[in-house]
Amino acid sequence: MKRALLIMAAITTLAAPAMADEALAKSKNCMACHAVDKKLVGPSYKDVAKKYAGDAKAVDALAAKIVKGGSGVWGAIPMPANPQVNEADAKKLAAWIMTQ
Ligand code: HEC
Repeated sequence: MKRALLIMAAITTLAAPAMADEALAKSKNCMACHAVDKKLVGPSYKDVAKKYAGDAKAVDALAAKIVKGGSGVWGAIPMPANPQVNEADAKKLAAWIMTQ
């Protein structure tokens, strides 16, 4: 019983920030083109995390791309700029994506 409670507590601490950032992604309209585990208009966040795993500069590079948009990495469709996202939120989103 005690152990179950500890596990529950661990899960809530781990899951809470992840969910907060998914909510941020939803509120910034990212989920219109992206899903965590399947390709929509853009790549799934799991695929993005896999592609840049071990790349220490990935969070900064992805954050810049989230704000400015870009193309040519995943296919012919470009990602439009997302001026509604400030730099701090873009970094939060990029860091969250890298944990998928
Ligand atoms: C209109 C559709 C659309 C929206 C809205 C959108 N994206 Fe994208 N996103 C794309 C497409 C298409 C690509 C692939 C671009 C490429 O091939 O370089 C992409 C690529 C990415 C990548 C990978 C970039 C790379 O260079 O590997 C990340 C990370 C990403 N998007 C995050 C976000 C976040 C966070 C938001 C919300 C602020 C968002 N996207 C909103 C369509 C979209």
